[in-house]
Amino acid sequence: MAQSSNGTGTLDKEVDALSVNLTAFPIVEFFRVEAIIRPWRLPLVVRALSSKGILGMTASTVKGAGVQGGKKERYSGTEHGSDNLVEKARLDIVVFRTQVNTVCRIIIKAAQTGEIGDGKIFIHPVADVIRIRTNETGESAERMEGGLSDISVLSSRDWLEEDDA
Ligand SMILES: Nc1ncnc2c1ncn2[C@@H]1O[C@H](COP(=O)(O)OP(=O)(O)OP(=O)(O)O)[C@@H](O)[C@H]1O
Ligand SMILES: [Mg+2]
Repeated sequence: MAQSSNGTGTLDKEVDALSVNLTAFPIVEFFRVEAIIRPWRLPLVVRALSSKGILGMTASTVKGAGVQGGKKERYSGTEHGSDNLVEKARLDIVVFRTQVNTVCRIIIKAAQTGEIGDGKIFIHPVADVIRIRTNETGESAERMEGGLSDISVLSSRDWLEEDDA
């Protein structure tokens, strides 16, 4: 189970070994993880994140193209408009620096099919976070009741297989 390819061609241990390079921003505390994924994978990704205590996120519908210019995905039946831009889901998640790796691993495990067009993740530095209701800034603004602020390593894809069933 844990070390099977899960049909994606990628071993879980490869995903678990993934490490985001944040060295360009040595003193930045918050980062925005921007994931462009297949729309039909969005519910699975959101559920996976929520089940690990990542609750704050923003989803939007976007259109985009990757290195294939949006062309090849037509053959797999992905919806597209009259241009070469393919409909994608965008998920923005602002998290503490120590959560970036975990969030990326969760997203990859839930969004990866192994086919072209699986998407991309971009990591952006965030200067500060403000909760409008309370005027809180920084860590207390990002932190939420019941959330996990100190999650570190997820080594299994079992929860994903459960959700898939
Ligand atoms: N360089 C980029 N800049 C901004 N958005 C991008 C970029 N590359 C990809 N995207 C966005 O990510 C979506 C999915 O890209 P896609 O998965 O096709 O990337 P890819 O590099 O072509 O990889 P693959 O070979 O797996 O298809 C695109 O539709 C687009 O919205
Ligand atoms: Mg592509």
